[in-house]
Amino acid sequence: MDISFSSFLPSKPGALVVGIAEGGVLTPAAARLDRESDGAVSRAVSQIHFSGKAKSLVELVAPQELGASRIILAGIGNPTGLDAHSAEDLGAAIVRRLLTSEEPAVSIVIDLPPISAKQGSKSRGGKKASVSGAELAAHIALGAFLQSYRFDHYRTKQENDRPSLKKVNVVTRADARASKLWSELSAVAQGTMLARDLVNEPPNVLHPTEFAKRAKALTKLGVKVEILSEAQMKKLGMNMLLAVGQGSVQPSQLVVMRWDGAKKTKQAKQGSKSAAPVAFVGKGVCFDSGGLSLKPGASMAGMKGDMGGAAAVVGLMHALATRKASVNAVGVIGLVENMPDGKAMRPDDVVTTMSGQTVEVLNTDAEGRLVLADALWYTQQRFKPRFMINLATLTGAIVVSLGREHAGLFSNNDLLAERITAAGQIEDEKVWRLPVSAAYDRLLKSKIADMKNIGGPGAGSITAAQFLQRFVNNVPWAHLDIAGVAWQDGEQKPKIPSWGTGWGVRVLNRLIADHYER
Ligand code: BES
Ligand code: MN
Ligand code: ZN
Repeated sequence: MDISFSSFLPSKPGALVVGIAEGGVLTPAAARLDRESDGAVSRAVSQIHFSGKAKSLVELVAPQELGASRIILAGIGNPTGLDAHSAEDLGAAIVRRLLTSEEPAVSIVIDLPPISAKQGSKSRGGKKASVSGAELAAHIALGAFLQSYRFDHYRTKQENDRPSLKKVNVVTRADARASKLWSELSAVAQGTMLARDLVNEPPNVLHPTEFAKRAKALTKLGVKVEILSEAQMKKLGMNMLLAVGQGSVQPSQLVVMRWDGAKKTKQAKQGSKSAAPVAFVGKGVCFDSGGLSLKPGASMAGMKGDMGGAAAVVGLMHALATRKASVNAVGVIGLVENMPDGKAMRPDDVVTTMSGQTVEVLNTDAEGRLVLADALWYTQQRFKPRFMINLATLTGAIVVSLGREHAGLFSNNDLLAERITAAGQIEDEKVWRLPVSAAYDRLLKSKIADMKNIGGPGAGSITAAQFLQRFVNNVPWAHLDIAGVAWQDGEQKPKIPSWGTGWGVRVLNRLIADHYER
């Protein structure tokens, strides 16, 4: 999708979108269009009682004298409440309407009606900060761009479903500023789309070796990428990660990505805090059959998405490198396939992890925590990071607890947890914190080893988090259980047209941008 900004309406705008505020009030652009079209806009608004409710759209055939092909009246609701989120949702709604409409281009003009003195003071006193014209335009573009995502590589026929819309132009007087904002936002959107692609790819294509290859492609953005083979992992003592992959014909892989973007100040060179990287660790189970503790058919379907955590880490590194973030960041992803086989790990096996701690495996379907155990230990040992955040589609129980609205957040550090929570609010990737504590930790007691890999019947997401915490070595750490948000069935949410959501790229990019770039 080609996104552009201009301060004037192009002579051939394609579809033309103008805003109507709450109560059917015409925005300045709508009023101008109304004059040019002999009252067509106000007639439409009054005849169909268009209320200007946010995100509602009405389509008119453009009068001949206008250059536009069609006019779309877009409800913007109460203009003082128009924030970045509603701008994105508006952009998404427009693309949703036009993507396969045979329309090649759209120009969007959303200017706000002059704020009356009364409304003005209300908006300043109220909670929502009103956004500038440039921000409004850039976020409309972001919503449009995210909604334009498709995953069509495997369709040989597209019938009535072929995308026609190629160009979105947002008209704003602050076009230069909007373009500048967009260059930051588009980096994050591209990272999100990369994560979606990885989650959507089928598991016969995206096995660990292919996944590692896709991560390696970040080299061209200036990311340093290392791929550790099974032999190298064996040498490091990563028996736990390897045990998960040993039932698969696909070799396991560990990928380490490094973006060294922090400005090299004197302090940083001397090894002060900001030289130490922030670290992200992803669960990359390219397919989770459950292993010998085989999943029933209905629960196995969709388990190609069990690498959503790793996908988000790759998408994040892509975003950071594309926008040249001034931070040192490390991404580590453990890539395995969990399969049943004569060589597969058995329930009852005891395995020594890289940390030296031993684990009694009582259920081979609780495999994500096993992969992460070695990946987390390795990350903190090698990089001594400022913090570690891991992302994982870890438990079905988190879907029971939080559904698809929030990811589960677990942390040993209140400040980090608060920052992630705030970033999630801003980016509309919300998290909800659950506890970790010694009482839950005790549920992992094993009869013969240091711990078992499952807890009791209750608190399944928390005992999984307790397991991970045993491998973070007191580094400030947060675990995001994204099993409920990494994919979705159908188009449930605006801006997310596909199965894979790309969840995680936006919230973590925001976390870095707001607190760790200097
Ligand atoms: N990948 C699954 C978790 C999952 C379930 C993700 C549903 C997305 C949707 C994970 O490896 C798993 O199988 N967890 C088990 C743990 C149990 C055996 C303790 C689960 O949640 O049932
Ligand atoms: Mn599993
Ligand atoms: Zn899994």
